[in-house]
Amino acid sequence: MKTVAIVGASGYVGGELLRLLLMHPEVEVKVATSQQHAGEYVFKAHPNLKGFTSMRFSMDTPEEAASKVDIVFMAVPHGSSIEHVPEMSEMGVKIVDMSADFRFRNQADYPVWYGWEHPAPDLLQKFVYGMPELHRKELKSARFISVPGCIASSSIYSIAPLAKAGFLDGVVVIDAKIGSSGSGNKPSMATHFSERYNSVRIYSPSGHRHIGEIEQELSIISGTKVKVTMSAHSINMVRGILTTSSVFVEREPKIQNIWNAYRTMYGEEPFVRFIMDPSGVYKYPDPKLVVGSNFIDLGFAIDRHVKRIVAIGSIDNLIKGAAGNAIQSMNIMEGFDEKEGLMMSPMRLV
Ligand SMILES: NC(=O)c1ccc[n+]([C@@H]2O[C@H](COP(=O)([O-])OP(=O)(O)OC[C@H]3O[C@@H](n4cnc5c(N)ncnc54)[C@H](OP(=O)(O)O)[C@@H]3O)[C@@H](O)[C@H]2O)c1
Repeated sequence: MKTVAIVGASGYVGGELLRLLLMHPEVEVKVATSQQHAGEYVFKAHPNLKGFTSMRFSMDTPEEAASKVDIVFMAVPHGSSIEHVPEMSEMGVKIVDMSADFRFRNQADYPVWYGWEHPAPDLLQKFVYGMPELHRKELKSARFISVPGCIASSSIYSIAPLAKAGFLDGVVVIDAKIGSSGSGNKPSMATHFSERYNSVRIYSPSGHRHIGEIEQELSIISGTKVKVTMSAHSINMVRGILTTSSVFVEREPKIQNIWNAYRTMYGEEPFVRFIMDPSGVYKYPDPKLVVGSNFIDLGFAIDRHVKRIVAIGSIDNLIKGAAGNAIQSMNIMEGFDEKEGLMMSPMRLV
């Protein structure tokens, strides 16, 4: 049994980490920190957990939390992890970071995508990108894990097989649609119900921060320098992401070769499903089909008119896009069954 702490446990990702880890047979949640809710029962911030735990939030600093457990999950905003992780990394504790602070291998990517110089560049090489299906081998010997961004996860999962099989002949163009929980629990005018409801808002037509990590991972997989562009939209949904990516090819691809690329990479993966149904309502991935689960649903289509492969992915941003990938990665790091605590069917949102 391993003991864990969740720092930033009052947030949306912290809440999902709590929900899943409280049911995990190999771990004990010992500390859940919150500055705003310190001393309150966990179910005050996460009413869905009433009856599942009598824990209260603590106001431990991340370093104090780290001194009490085997593994710390950092579920705090970008720029906040970096203030604590360098000291925590010397304490012997294992760290799973949900923020972007350790996702890049190359320190030069931080000024480009986040606008700041990385203050602890030596640590970047010690973190493993927490995408189990692509980094399983490195995760087995990891001590520090950096969990991918949510839109990055859906994009990379859906394009990676095409990158590996050499299909990426030009710039990859991603269209992303995301629900409101993607921006966390801190309210703003932009997330106010009256402003967000009934709206399809293109909040990032270009230059989205996740492009950097998508390029990083697709370049590693393909062995070439991959260029990506993306437009991201917030849509009328609380949870879920749909990414529709255009991969342009020089020669018209054969459908069998594309299938082979996906099957070779994901044929045995427990959390990858293919949604390619010739009939019915759900012919392709739809976030509605994955909510509440750790699945990534994938599909593709061929656009012969302009020699384009359309790669489709959908996830629950808070699970396969955050807490689920974090726990799956931890399971691998600790030598647990990779599926432990994660094999639940999605909700049927009807
Ligand atoms: N939401 C998603 O879909 C998603 C997906 C993938 C990754 N992530 C990443 O996961 C992390 C958490 O995201 P979230 O959506 O759960 O955010 P959130 O709902 O805003 O929660 C973050 C929590 O961190 C604490 N916090 C806020 N500002 C802080 C600061 N400056 N220093 C220390 N703690 C602070 C807050 O708790 P107290 O003030 O009570 O301590 C808050 O509840 C972020 O890095 C985010 O980018 C999010």
